[in-house]
Amino acid sequence: MPTTSPPRGPHAGALDANRFLIVTGKGGVGKTTVCGAEALALAAKGKRVLVCMCNAKERLSAMLGSELIGPEVKSVAPNVWAVNMDPELALAEYGMMALHSKTLFKLLFDNKYVRTFFRAVPGMHEWTLLGKAWWHTTEQRSDGSSAYDVVILDAPATGHGLDMLRVPKVILDVVPPGLLRRDAERAWKMFQDPQTCAVVLVTLPEEMPTTETIELARALRDELQLPIGKIVVNGVLPPLFSKEERAAIEAAGPIEGTTPPDVALAAGRGRALRERVQSESLHRLSEELPISPSFLPQLFEDAAQPSAIKELAKRLA
Ligand SMILES: Nc1ncnc2c1ncn2[C@@H]1O[C@H](COP(=O)(O)OP(=O)(O)OP(=O)(O)O)[C@@H](O)[C@H]1O
Ligand SMILES: [Mg+2]
Repeated sequence: MPTTSPPRGPHAGALDANRFLIVTGKGGVGKTTVCGAEALALAAKGKRVLVCMCNAKERLSAMLGSELIGPEVKSVAPNVWAVNMDPELALAEYGMMALHSKTLFKLLFDNKYVRTFFRAVPGMHEWTLLGKAWWHTTEQRSDGSSAYDVVILDAPATGHGLDMLRVPKVILDVVPPGLLRRDAERAWKMFQDPQTCAVVLVTLPEEMPTTETIELARALRDELQLPIGKIVVNGVLPPLFSKEERAAIEAAGPIEGTTPPDVALAAGRGRALRERVQSESLHRLSEELPISPSFLPQLFEDAAQPSAIKELAKRLA
């Protein structure tokens, strides 16, 4: 569909072996949409998939046509489960696991000073969510098999997403040996292993999201050494104009008239400009990132509904 098609790099698009997917990108680019579509695509291959949202304004249920998704894991489609993680509840779950006792936990955590203390620990809020999502990768069913083959984390947008992913490293640097450190160590080891974990970067073929994606990819690679497994360029338009046609249309300048032909010309010019920006964005991405992206089309119906997400899932598969 797009005019630029860079060479396929390692792991390009193939997330079949990964057990933990971290989906991030600029705000509003389609992260949750991609989580839903990726979950359906993996479930269609027979995988048991859990999508973990970070205390989000919940829109995944509308996308999948399920009941509202709250802080308890619930089945949302065949082979797909979802949870909208709540930091306080996740901390409580973690505390109970750590102390092996609900009574002991209640004794400690029903104390407002203890709760205030935990809220004030830098990174604790992020860790309760990231740590819980990771913990689900270790969760087992009664027969000892993994509860989920793949856990998809619908991570916060760029800056907050990076802050969240920095937390295990901070814990390893500052927290003394103990359960928290041990779990952070296990999680961090998993996140850095390209065989088990992949960051999925979602972007739009536009200038700002492209710049942010390139910066995010650099931070993930250089600062955190986390494996980028897939880049999804969402909202891609099939090009109508050649490069030469675009140049000619742009050179003709803005069209201001209001007659029907003027309006049609202005619409054509708008489309040509958007196609140029799309082409430049895809070119910049291919120059900067070694992975060839997966493309999702711009849909012209409401994308936040099951039929649209199923369609996008087919494209991702
Ligand atoms: N390919 C597409 N075509 C048309 N609309 C889309 C497409 N992808 C996503 N959308 C729409 O764009 C909006 C934002 O998508 P989504 O909620 O997935 O983004 P997000 O990155 O998760 O946002 P946030 O940063 O707020 O969590 C939604 O209304 C969604 O239905
Ligand atoms: Mg979202």
